Amino acid sequence: MKPLTVYLETFGCQMNVLDSELVRGQLLAAGYRFVENWKQADVVLYNTCSVREHAENKVYSRIGLVGQRKRTHPGIVLGVLGCMAERDGADMARRHPQVDLLCGPGELDKVPMLIDNALRTRRGGPGGSVDPTTAPAGAQGGRREVATALQGNTHRRSSTLAAAEDQLEMLDLARAFSPEQPRHSAYVRITRGCNKHCTYCVVPRTRGREVHRPPDHIVDECRRLVDGGVIEITLLGQTVNHYHYDHGAAVSLNGVQQPQVGANFGAAGPKVTPGSRVTSFADLLQRIHDEVPGLQRLRFVTSFPRDFGDDILDVMAACPRICRYLHLPAQSGSNRILKMMNRGHTVETYLDLLDRLRVKLPDATVAGDVICGFPTETQADHEATVGLLERARYKNCFIFKYSPRPGTPAYERLSDDVPDGEKRRRNNELLEVQSRISREIHQSQVGRTVRVFVESISERESRNRNTADPSVTLGWEQPRQVLQLAGRTDGDLIVMFDAEQSLVGSMVDVRIERAGPLALFGSLAGEPVAV
Ligand code: SAH
Ligand code: F3S
Repeated sequence: MKPLTVYLETFGCQMNVLDSELVRGQLLAAGYRFVENWKQADVVLYNTCSVREHAENKVYSRIGLVGQRKRTHPGIVLGVLGCMAERDGADMARRHPQVDLLCGPGELDKVPMLIDNALRTRRGGPGGSVDPTTAPAGAQGGRREVATALQGNTHRRSSTLAAAEDQLEMLDLARAFSPEQPRHSAYVRITRGCNKHCTYCVVPRTRGREVHRPPDHIVDECRRLVDGGVIEITLLGQTVNHYHYDHGAAVSLNGVQQPQVGANFGAAGPKVTPGSRVTSFADLLQRIHDEVPGLQRLRFVTSFPRDFGDDILDVMAACPRICRYLHLPAQSGSNRILKMMNRGHTVETYLDLLDRLRVKLPDATVAGDVICGFPTETQADHEATVGLLERARYKNCFIFKYSPRPGTPAYERLSDDVPDGEKRRRNNELLEVQSRISREIHQSQVGRTVRVFVESISERESRNRNTADPSVTLGWEQPRQVLQLAGRTDGDLIVMFDAEQSLVGSMVDVRIERAGPLALFGSLAGEPVAV
C-alpha cells in the first residue's frame, strides 16, 4: 500500500521547531512519508504558536485554505498541534469544523495515535471513535469527532509526574539519530513549560508547569547527536538558567529516571531535599562541555534575568566551547511596567547582571526582547525602554507590540489601552534605536577575522534562485558560481560571505569587510578549520 503523506508546518519558537522534529521522527518511524507541498498531503499538520495574536491569525488563514480544499478532497485530515490547540482547544473545533485533530504541546507523543483515530473516523471504519478519556465534551455521539489530546487546566503531567511514567519524556528519548540525514546543528530540550507567570504570557497556560529533564538524559542526547555529526547544540528552555534537578527527590521507573517538576526558585534559591545532590544549570553546562568533547559550540536560550547566578558566568568563562552569548529578555525599561508584568527583576538588577557578564566575559554578546504598549505604558515608560536599549547595547533585540492573550492575567485584569497606532510608533522608534546600536556593534567587527559556523546558503541566495526577487538588498548582486553562505560567530553575529556550498556545516575563518544592521559581510580567510 502507498504510504500516507504528511505535510507539517511549524510556527513560532525554537521549542516548536524541536517539537516538530520529534513529531516528524515518530511519524517517519510509523511509516508516513513527508511532502513539501500541503496540497499533496493526506494529513496536514500545523504546529502552532499562541504567543501573539498575529501568529494565531496566520494559522487560521491556513486552516481556511485547507477547509476549502476539503470540500473537494474530504479525506484530508487536518490537525492543529501545539499552543493554539491547547489555548483554543474545543472552541477551535466548534468554530472550525474542518479541524479533525487537536494536540497540545504536552501531549505530542500521542500524535500517531490521534492521526490513526482521525483516519479511521474519516473512513468510517471500525473503531473510528475518539479516546473517551481525552475527547472534549460532546465529541462522543456528536455530529463530528475530533481526535483530541489536551492537558486542559489540570496540568496532569505536573500534578502526577512523580507517580506516573512521563510519556512525553519518551518523545525526546526516542529521538531519531539518523545517519542518513547528517546535520550539523541541533536543539536539545532541558526544561519544559514555565512557572514564571509573566502577566502577558500564555506559555505557562499552554505548556504547563516547569519540568526538568534528568541530566543523564540530556548529556546522553548531546553525545548521541555529536556522534552523528552535530557540532553545535542549543539547549532549550523558557528559563534555562533555572534548570534544577534534585537527585534526592528523583523518581525512577523501570530503571529510567523521570523528569522533575521545577522547585520554586525564590530569593533563597530553589527548594532542595536535605542532603541531596543537585544538578544546577551551571553543573549541566559543565557536564556537557566535559563529557561531550566533540561538541564545538554549546548555546542556550532563553535566560531569565531574575536569579541568574555568577556560577553560570564562571562556567561560561572557563569553558571555551560554550558560546559567549545570552538571550536575556528584559521586556521593558520601566520598573513600574516590569512590576505589572511580574518579571521579578528591575532595571537596576538587570543592568547589574549585564555588568557582571561583561566583567567576566568582556567579549560576550547579548540579545533582548522588549514589549511595547503594555497596558498603561506612558511616553515616560516608553522612553525608559529606549534608555534601556541604549544602556544594554544588545547585538539585536526582538521588539513586539503588546498582544492581549485570552487566559493571561494581563488580559483578564488590564485593558489594552495603548492605541495600536501609538504601539506602532513606539515599536518603530525602538527598532530605529536598536538598528543603530546593532550597526555600531557590527561595525566594531570590521577588519577582524572571526570564526564562523556555516549554517546555510543565505536567504537572499535561496530567494534569488527561486524567484529572482529584486527586493533583496543584502550582499552582492552578481550571479556567480560560488554562492553567498550564511553562518554565525560564537557570539551569534550573522556573517555572510561568498564560498562554495560544500562549506555548509563546517567552521571557517572569515575576514569582516563590511557591516549592516542585520549582518556582517566578509570573505574567507584561509582553509576550513578542522574540527
Ligand atoms: N521564555 C520564552 C518566552 C516565550 S515568549 C522564550 O524566550 O522563548 C517570547 C517573547 O515573546 C517574550 O520574551 C516576549 O517578549 C514576547 N511576548 C510574549 N507574550 C507576549 C504578548 N502577549 N504580547 C507581545 N509579546 C509577547
Ligand atoms: Fe512567558 Fe515569562 Fe515564562 S515570558 S515563557 S511566562 S518567563
